[in-house]
Amino acid sequence: MRRKLAAGNWKMNGTAAQLAELSAMAEAADTNQTDVLICTPATLVHRAADATAASPIAIGGQDCHANASGAHTGDISASMLADAGASHVITGHSERRVDHGETDAVIAAKSETAYSETLTAVICIGESLEEREAGQTLDVIGTQLQGSTPGAATGANTVIAYEPVWAIGTGKVPTLEQIAEVHDFIRTKLVERFGDDGNAFRVLYGGSVKPSNASEIFAVSNVDGALVGGASLKASDFNAIISALDAA
Ligand code: PGA
Repeated sequence: MRRKLAAGNWKMNGTAAQLAELSAMAEAADTNQTDVLICTPATLVHRAADATAASPIAIGGQDCHANASGAHTGDISASMLADAGASHVITGHSERRVDHGETDAVIAAKSETAYSETLTAVICIGESLEEREAGQTLDVIGTQLQGSTPGAATGANTVIAYEPVWAIGTGKVPTLEQIAEVHDFIRTKLVERFGDDGNAFRVLYGGSVKPSNASEIFAVSNVDGALVGGASLKASDFNAIISALDAA
């Protein structure tokens, strides 16, 4: 049985003032079947980890470099995130694929480096609107899943997040049938590649998840939780999403 996961992605939002929202989230995070993760900006990881130490909330980063250390001005290593108190790191978010030209191979390398620091990688995949309209969704998802997920991935060290690029921050959400099609496909591919352990990977849906659509999305087969951007910035919204997931 996979535990559910509500993961927040604060993106490039949040200063120390936002930690009050985090404390309010911690109250709702004490759920029976749902793990809660907040991926803060790197500058907040340490303080967020301190602020949530007494709660079940886990803290993650939003990216790490593929190398363990070295001359990479401005980058963050997996060991730095772990040292600051993170247990997870997002790799391959579509905003990084687009803004920083990250390829599947780079994302796989980052994820492997995360494992070496005992971080769980939240590997993101998702098709663009052009790709969906051209009927290429499953091809794109299959290619990204295969290329971005290292051979060393396990259900314990990796979470897959399916985020259609056109649904991120737009208020547009795929139909439940479209979500089910992709999540079932991802599960099949994970089992083909990793055998029984493929059933242990949690597969999250991400893209415009909010309190009003959370319950119906969480009822879809092979949806084990959500990666939430905008709605994770407000404790009342994120707590409602956590409750919907726990009740699903
Ligand atoms: P959104 O972002 O919930 O604001 O659409 C999701 C994400 O990019 O992880």
